[in-house]
Amino acid sequence: MKAYLSRRYHFSASHRLHTDAYDEARNRELFGKCNNPHGHGHNYTVQVTLSGPVDPITGMVCNLGDLDAFARTHLLDRFDHTNLNMLPCFANRVSTTENLSKEIYRIFSEFALAHLENVHVEETSNNSFDYAGSRMPWNGTL
Ligand code: NI
Repeated sequence: MKAYLSRRYHFSASHRLHTDAYDEARNRELFGKCNNPHGHGHNYTVQVTLSGPVDPITGMVCNLGDLDAFARTHLLDRFDHTNLNMLPCFANRVSTTENLSKEIYRIFSEFALAHLENVHVEETSNNSFDYAGSRMPWNGTL
């Protein structure tokens, strides 16, 4: 018997979509205004979903205080008010929200007190991305 919990976090960061694999013209064509050399910012919303058995004494999957402390140290302190392109995790990867979702998944997979199920990242009110590691429903492995 397991239960699921989801928690949302918010941070602001800037980025620029650009790949050294293509020349300037092809970058502009591919990424459009997101390739602007001056970058632009987003207010990101991250929703992490975790699962685990409900502790018979506390009635909880895990203590949200423990999850919040982990998120503060490993997510918010690392990403809030940064230029994503300057972070080591984007040194060789385009700072798309797909790649951001993968990085946040990698981070929360190390949270020891519950099992990470999914990372959902909202970049704008119209764009959101999900990453669930090897558990994505369309790749056939659960
Ligand atoms: Ni953007």
